[in-house]
Amino acid sequence: MNYGKLLTLLVMAFTLSGSMNAEDLTLKITKKYLNLPVSHQKERAVMTLAVDGKPVHSFDIRLASAEPDYWVFCDVSSFKGKQIKISYRGDAAGMDKIYQADEIAGQDSLYKETNRPQIHYTQRRGWNNDPNGLIYYEGEYHLFYQHNPYERDWGNMHWGHAVSKDLIHWEELPIALFPDEHGTMFSGSAVIDYKNTAGFNKGNIPAMVAVYTADSPEKQVQCIAYSLDKGRTWTKYDGNPVVDSKAKWNSHDTRDPKVFWYEPTGKWVMVLNERDGHSIYNSDDLKHWTFESHITGFWECPELFELPVDGVTGNKKWVMYGASGTYMIGSFDGRTFVPESGKHYYSTGTIYAAQTFTNIPSGDGRRIQIGWGRISHPGMPFNGTMLLPTVLSLRTTKDGIRLFSEPIKELEALQIAKGQWKDLSAEKAGELLQPYNHTGSLRIRTTLSLSHATNAGLSLYGQNLLDYDMNFNKVNGVFYSPEDMTSMEISVDIILDRTSVEVFVDGGAYSYSMERRADSNNKDGFRFWGNNIQVKNLEVYELQSIWNK
Ligand code: FRU
Repeated sequence: MNYGKLLTLLVMAFTLSGSMNAEDLTLKITKKYLNLPVSHQKERAVMTLAVDGKPVHSFDIRLASAEPDYWVFCDVSSFKGKQIKISYRGDAAGMDKIYQADEIAGQDSLYKETNRPQIHYTQRRGWNNDPNGLIYYEGEYHLFYQHNPYERDWGNMHWGHAVSKDLIHWEELPIALFPDEHGTMFSGSAVIDYKNTAGFNKGNIPAMVAVYTADSPEKQVQCIAYSLDKGRTWTKYDGNPVVDSKAKWNSHDTRDPKVFWYEPTGKWVMVLNERDGHSIYNSDDLKHWTFESHITGFWECPELFELPVDGVTGNKKWVMYGASGTYMIGSFDGRTFVPESGKHYYSTGTIYAAQTFTNIPSGDGRRIQIGWGRISHPGMPFNGTMLLPTVLSLRTTKDGIRLFSEPIKELEALQIAKGQWKDLSAEKAGELLQPYNHTGSLRIRTTLSLSHATNAGLSLYGQNLLDYDMNFNKVNGVFYSPEDMTSMEISVDIILDRTSVEVFVDGGAYSYSMERRADSNNKDGFRFWGNNIQVKNLEVYELQSIWNK
């Protein structure tokens, strides 16, 4: 059933009966949060919170009746002083465990949990996927993201929200977008409407406008919402949806609008994934959109942006990709993207649905990207992670123009230098790394030089952080040919967190990410391997937790 219909039915049920189910729970809200117990032994069922007889939130939850696996929460601070009625369609035995408090259950151990990433953003509770609405505004980087607040698995899509002043330390804020009569909140982007084209601005405060997909079993439509208080509170446009294209494409898959201002034509551009590729739409006011063109061969989460080649501003190219990140390079005139080369890949592994920031000040000018890391967090009340922000650039290589991705320089603020060595044997280099075998977050930069070996690398408790096969030209199983194809060297920048590994090869020419999974039977710790290899350079940094205040 779609969410809108569900709400209508619930309102009818309340009005008609006027009575209370014996298992409903009525509370006067005096605190900030409702804490809710979750058990994965239970089926999902709909819970509805109603204030003054009107449903205010409705979501699926696996309400625990016995010992919960973990607790989730619902911020009810805006209902303080009011009676809230909680009803549940599933096994209501756990209703009496629900309690209100000014802290979330588990606050004491927050960010200190065993499998909590220490240098990556994760939300306190529940699930995340795609980064959404990445935007810089007035000193803050905004990270919105796909979020299930009520379970560590996908579902109930909301837009979660966090802000940062340095792209490294994040503060989780209340949920930005809640499901509504059009559906749940799927991926999208955000812009600042400096010219007040949509008419949402107030005085000299420009609106931050989110453009997102509302998903229902019936269809996926594109909607807008605006905020006049730096993304803290949002008003949905009453003319939603602004794009409804299911019929045109005879497809349910029309989603993930990425919007930007295109100065040469003075129009808003929306790149939207529709069925089998990315469509371009234009608009003067963010409310009315005209279809312009379509390019096949992409799936979900579109991106399209312009970058100088080799830093030369007079020579720019456009990059287009979908959720997998495999990209085409081409030209764009505001209405049509014309591919010139591709598809290529720059990063593989856990990365998905990566988005880049808009509104980065021109003095900075970087194209900064955050990808979703499909990293699991066993035993934790949360799941998924945002990968480290990286800077994207286009550079000329022996194969043509290619996209490079490198960690942002802001990461260095977390570093504590532990040592830098040159020209080591594999054994010696391995010994030098032993003190860090169990370090949660660590950065290792190293260059390996091969002479007798066709394969060489670095492992940690049996997991290959780097596995370079010079014979088959593969790095951890993926084809890679260095810029100098006669080179017998490979340089890597390895960033380890408690649950993830990110590796940037040869200055960002290629990168990959994976779960950090030690083999519990392996006793090695760090180990450089390969016949007669030389470790030409080794740098080690501990990375301080971003959650230490
Ligand atoms: C990609 C995606 C998007 C969609 C969102 C839903 O991971 O499937 O296409 O908007 O996730 O959570």
